Amino acid sequence: MKVAVLGYGTVGAGVYQMLLDAPGMEAGPVLVRPGKAVESFMVSDAALIFGDPTVDAVVETLGGLDPAYSYGMRALEAGKHFITANKAMVAAHGLELAALAREKGAAFLFSAACGGGVPFLHNLALSAETDRIEAVSGILNGTTNYMLDAMQRRGLSYADALREAQSLGYAEADPTADVEGLDARRKIVLSADLAFGVNIREEDIPCVGISSITAGDIAKAKDEGLTYKLIARAEKNGRAVAAFVCPTLFPSSAPEAHTDGTGNLVTLFASRFGKQSFSGAGAGGYPTGSNVLRDCLDVADGCRSFYADSFTPCSVNLSGTQCKWLFRCMGEYFTRECSAREAFDAYESYRKDDPHALLARYAAEEE
Ligand code: HSE
Repeated sequence: MKVAVLGYGTVGAGVYQMLLDAPGMEAGPVLVRPGKAVESFMVSDAALIFGDPTVDAVVETLGGLDPAYSYGMRALEAGKHFITANKAMVAAHGLELAALAREKGAAFLFSAACGGGVPFLHNLALSAETDRIEAVSGILNGTTNYMLDAMQRRGLSYADALREAQSLGYAEADPTADVEGLDARRKIVLSADLAFGVNIREEDIPCVGISSITAGDIAKAKDEGLTYKLIARAEKNGRAVAAFVCPTLFPSSAPEAHTDGTGNLVTLFASRFGKQSFSGAGAGGYPTGSNVLRDCLDVADGCRSFYADSFTPCSVNLSGTQCKWLFRCMGEYFTRECSAREAFDAYESYRKDDPHALLARYAAEEE
């Protein structure tokens, strides 16, 4: 199978290098920006890829919505398989891409969009066929995990942890998507869709990132034997889906507390197999590239889509999810046991008085 690659950043270069010696694969042209085609395998005109009848599959590693989405549609229109690591695009346009892929008899897979190198989405899709998934939850963002780990273990301030994550190339110059939880939220959209056979909307999911967590919050938690982790969680409550992103406090015995650096750790809860966790490198060229390559091999084996045509839009309802929450507002800490809906609403109202207010959830024992 001849595979073209869109983009030659960290992930694109990793994928290209891995395609060179992957069994049954042939590395095709790589699309780069005009003026950047310095190697013979690089092209700057996308038509040379979409119009090339020898290219069987297109891997997209550009990120963002545009032009990634229009390239995806063009690849599928041309009957080529489309594989991507782009969670923002799949969260926004997954159903349209899947529908076009189905119409054209092409594949549309996106294992690397969640968990970087952790082959979790692939396994979630398989598990959802054979069991009833009740919840999916975990550390889905490597950058914020690196920062919280640096604050927890080395006592760095939030600002210093962010600077360090940026200097190492983990956090973007504009770190908003990572630190405000938006990246994790896109990943939980894809996870919930596959777990529950639905299609939920990113903007329906309440999302609190880590930018309000201070060195003082970390020190207090540490004194209590607790560790902050940014958790994205989705669960099935009857016919409703509850999903949210929020800093979560784990006891030091929990595997989440020992997930360090840019690691990811995701746990599935199912009615028959119980609890199953996946952990590993949440980002990076070769880890993410290995998930992309796995999709390419699956496509060559006849695998076509994670999204079935039965996946239908579904609203998010947080009223049935009861937890214990920690709030900090105007320097005062207090706890409350209530539904996730009430907790996020209360937090929004506290933020009017204190824009740096904190909301965190205490992990339940069974987590
Ligand atoms: N910015 C993402 C993260 C990259 O830090 O997890 C991998 O999806």
